[in-house]
Amino acid sequence: MEHYPVLKEKVLEFMKIKEGGIYVDATCGYGGHSKFILENSKNITLIGIDKDIEAVEKCREFLKEYKNFKAVYGGFENLREILKGLGIERIDGILFDLGFSLNQVKDPERGFGIYSEGPLDMRYDRNSPLTAGEILNRWSRKDLIRIFKDYGEIKNCEKVVEKIIERRKKREFKTTREFADFISSVLSKRGKIHPATKFFLALRIAVNNELEVLKKGLLEAAEVLKSSGRILVISFNSLEDRIVKRFFKNRKDIGVITKKPIIPSDEEIKKNPASRSAKLRVGEKL
Ligand SMILES: C[S@@+](CC[C@H](N)C(=O)[O-])C[C@H]1O[C@@H](n2cnc3c(N)ncnc32)[C@H](O)[C@@H]1O
Repeated sequence: MEHYPVLKEKVLEFMKIKEGGIYVDATCGYGGHSKFILENSKNITLIGIDKDIEAVEKCREFLKEYKNFKAVYGGFENLREILKGLGIERIDGILFDLGFSLNQVKDPERGFGIYSEGPLDMRYDRNSPLTAGEILNRWSRKDLIRIFKDYGEIKNCEKVVEKIIERRKKREFKTTREFADFISSVLSKRGKIHPATKFFLALRIAVNNELEVLKKGLLEAAEVLKSSGRILVISFNSLEDRIVKRFFKNRKDIGVITKKPIIPSDEEIKKNPASRSAKLRVGEKL
């Protein structure tokens, strides 16, 4: 399967790579952006980070010819600690390409896919304890309403939550297909977008605590960046994008390079439909 790293040309352009610099790909996945950066730079050190141990192993194998690349298993929210472990204090630039990878969503066992049959998992890091099934089957009515409202931006979710509670008393939710079909039957509406899409997004955000983790990752990145070093963030939903936008705006030591987010061209979207909701924002340490 061909892999198209999202907005890769723009990433390269805005990273303003300097010879001899130290860069971080905070969400390296299988190494798409990392490879493009390595191919188009000279004498840099590139550190790839991912919470998914499988991705880290694949990435190491994929980029093994590059001796100036190192992939580390961990969360970008622990950036400083990870860098410290490598003897690095300051960096020249960092990329966050948020969310899940195509490899993760296409593997039914990971439980991200609305159209596939797999366990209700949705963890990027399979060593962390909380799964989507645990949330759906154990969390309180109040907490379910909170995550569907706050993370899924689903306005009238109370009735659906009542139905979830009723249903789980009889039989727990076990698979992604089961939950997706359940939402379809409760909402009984059909369109281009699956009615369970926002429920899946909310669960994924809750499982991985994505919004808090992003805030912490950005904070740590701003702390370790050298002056004129850049933070690039590609986000895929409005909640993430808002956090990034506010973060750049509120930090006195970060200049906003992209007044408006950069989005993929029609041509890129045609080649890679998964890129259609991507937004790239760039900030520079003053
Ligand atoms: C969109 S994919 C990255 C794809 C990659 N840029 C490429 O071109 O191949 C996002 C990756 O971020 C990872 N991830 C999500 N949250 C993370 C976190 N807090 N720390 C580190 N990695 C994370 C996921 O496991 C996934 O592999």
